[in-house]
Amino acid sequence: MKSVALHVVAYPEGEVGPEHFAVVPLELPDPDQLAEGEVLVRNTWTSVDPGLRLRLSAAAPDGYFAAFPLDRPMDGVLTVGEVLASRAAGFAPGDTVWHSLGWREHAVVRADEVAMNGVGTLRRLDVTGREPQWFLGALGPMGLTAYSGLAVVDGLGGGGVVWVSAGAGAVGSLVAQIARNLGHRVIASAGSPEKVAWLRDELGIDAFSYRDEPLRDGLRRLAPDGIDLYFDNVGGDHLEAALDAMRMHGRIALCGTVSDYESEPRGPHNIFLATAKHLTLAGFRGSLHLDLLDEMQQRVGDWVAAGRLLHRESVYDGLESAPTALADLLAGRTIGKTLVRLA
Ligand SMILES: NC(=O)c1ccc[n+]([C@@H]2O[C@H](COP(=O)([O-])OP(=O)(O)OC[C@H]3O[C@@H](n4cnc5c(N)ncnc54)[C@H](OP(=O)(O)O)[C@@H]3O)[C@@H](O)[C@H]2O)c1
Repeated sequence: MKSVALHVVAYPEGEVGPEHFAVVPLELPDPDQLAEGEVLVRNTWTSVDPGLRLRLSAAAPDGYFAAFPLDRPMDGVLTVGEVLASRAAGFAPGDTVWHSLGWREHAVVRADEVAMNGVGTLRRLDVTGREPQWFLGALGPMGLTAYSGLAVVDGLGGGGVVWVSAGAGAVGSLVAQIARNLGHRVIASAGSPEKVAWLRDELGIDAFSYRDEPLRDGLRRLAPDGIDLYFDNVGGDHLEAALDAMRMHGRIALCGTVSDYESEPRGPHNIFLATAKHLTLAGFRGSLHLDLLDEMQQRVGDWVAAGRLLHRESVYDGLESAPTALADLLAGRTIGKTLVRLA
């Protein structure tokens, strides 16, 4: 059968754009030609993540997901879809699933193939009372990243002062609300008045814009006695400001450094403060904490149902819009989880 996929046709030097991708025909077996263990999926939603930018070069960072080869479909991007045909036990036409062959309209997925540390392995989803695309956001890898980051540095306790950067983004907005539901006092930073208004007025989170107020001023204003836990989505100047603002024995969850994905690394230049203040800095990957997935889905699902956790999406339509969605995400033009709708 005929379908289409996005290929990377050139690696960006600086900012990514549509010129680095092409929509290319994709030839797939017909439903009655599937091999044993294969499932044919019509993808309906595909994820857009900052980490994709790290893989748009000849080599990805050591230990991370593999770089995308040129002129081939992009394997290792989480996607939700509907099963059209199956020769794998446990999967039937009509099932909603997630898998790792995104940025294309259809995929033939091997049910037994472990993908993306297991988080991208073909999985049937219970969408009763839930939208399928929530499994790319709050009930999927974004929820797992937020939840496991807090688990790694703080054991899911409460009672501290938490700062989360990129607070209006997919991970950040979940961190802010999960931390608040765990009993922390939360402040968030973001890059525009619109994002700050959403955080403050709709989510009830104290927030400031780092573009309108120096980071250290915003932190001093909202957390005059310092912070106990910093969830770092940004790196660079944000991590530096956090080191200044941390209290003794504070903890920092190193989730990502989106401020340097399209440029040179930017510090921090005050790392000795981690020693002086006896801080714990912990890098982590949500995909390496699959053991927490069921617990996270249960707790976050309950908070969503109770109105104690809201999620928001920035939706782009059609496969050809995915490169623009990625460029917009990295430039800070999206709010909440950034998604491409394929159906
Ligand atoms: N460790 C893991 O397992 C894992 C998993 C998923 C994601 N991540 C990381 O988590 C972070 C957030 O990912 P996400 O998917 O939730 O993306 P997101 O927050 O929805 O989007 C990225 C945001 O980064 C902010 N940003 C971009 N450049 C910036 C800069 N120079 N300074 C400050 N902020 C900047 C923008 O928000 P503003 O408008 O507010 O600037 C933008 O909206 C990323 O670092 C990502 O790589 C880690």
